[in-house]
Amino acid sequence: MLRVGVITASDKGAQGQREDLSGTVLKELVKEIDGEVVLYAILPDDQELLAQTMKKWVDEDGLDLILTTGGTGFSLRDVTPEATIAVADRMVPGIAEVMRYESYKITPKAMLSRAVAALRKKTLIINMPGSPKACKECWAALVPALPHGIQILK
Ligand code: MTE
Repeated sequence: MLRVGVITASDKGAQGQREDLSGTVLKELVKEIDGEVVLYAILPDDQELLAQTMKKWVDEDGLDLILTTGGTGFSLRDVTPEATIAVADRMVPGIAEVMRYESYKITPKAMLSRAVAALRKKTLIINMPGSPKACKECWAALVPALPHGIQILK
């Protein structure tokens, strides 16, 4: 069983003004790789808070995988990639490249996501765009290689 954390970055979600459909979708999708969401947070688009949460989930909880959703676009409040880069030991460019490559076949707007993927210690952190549709599409692109990558980290 892989221990997974999901962080939804959304000002409206954190204020209880928007239902977190993407977080719910990701909780279901991780079951495909024998994953279970053991930690979950809806946070405002605050770089420091996002980075602190990722850092804690790696350093104290030792999760295998952290998926973030939202905050990867062009709005000035979109800072999920910056938070991820701030806590990263090593970047994994291929993961974000494949998400955008596959997503671009579905919508040209895929190029507007600044999502990154990174390793901190033995945890893989992957940014996904905010919509449930985008989460499903990006996840489908990753599934074929994800279990192998996580296995190597163990
Ligand atoms: N990727 C996929 N697969 N499907 C989508 O519908 N939407 C795009 C893009 N990536 C999309 C996608 C859009 S419209 C935006 S603005 C960016 O992701 C950033 O989204 P975010 O700010 O919610 O993270």
